[in-house]
Amino acid sequence: HQILVINGPNLNLLGTREPEIYGALTLADIEENLQFQAEQLGCTVSTVQSNAEHELIEYVQQARGQVDFIILNPAAYTHTSVALRDALAAVAIPFIEVHLSNVHAREAFRRHSYFSDLAQAVICGCGAQGYEFALHAAQSYLNKQR
Ligand code: DQA
Repeated sequence: HQILVINGPNLNLLGTREPEIYGALTLADIEENLQFQAEQLGCTVSTVQSNAEHELIEYVQQARGQVDFIILNPAAYTHTSVALRDALAAVAIPFIEVHLSNVHAREAFRRHSYFSDLAQAVICGCGAQGYEFALHAAQSYLNKQR
């Protein structure tokens, strides 16, 4: 199985960005760990990050026919991007929405997501481990598919 991990704006700053909220691990640390987990699980993970909405949309569009499952942290676009939501609806690739922080325990504007009703699952508040949980959930979802 081919799984694509997409991270949105400012997640390139993980490690130094509000570590009390987002943790001490860098995005490279998280991605390396996912590669390791993928080897254990016998699936293939590719990872991308962008600060630009249009690039995230391109990644989703290009995934069509190439990728079985997406793990997505849309970051601030979670709360704003109808365009990225429409891209996910268009390609119809199953996905899990991940947030490092518990978005429900923060500012009110973080409680609404343009993605959650389309997602197979939503994981938030587990820190970097949330990506790992998502990878395991993706793998069992895909194993049940066939
Ligand atoms: C985030 C939560 C968002 O509200 C925020 O804009 C982010 C990161 C998270 O992973 O906790 O950039 O998606």
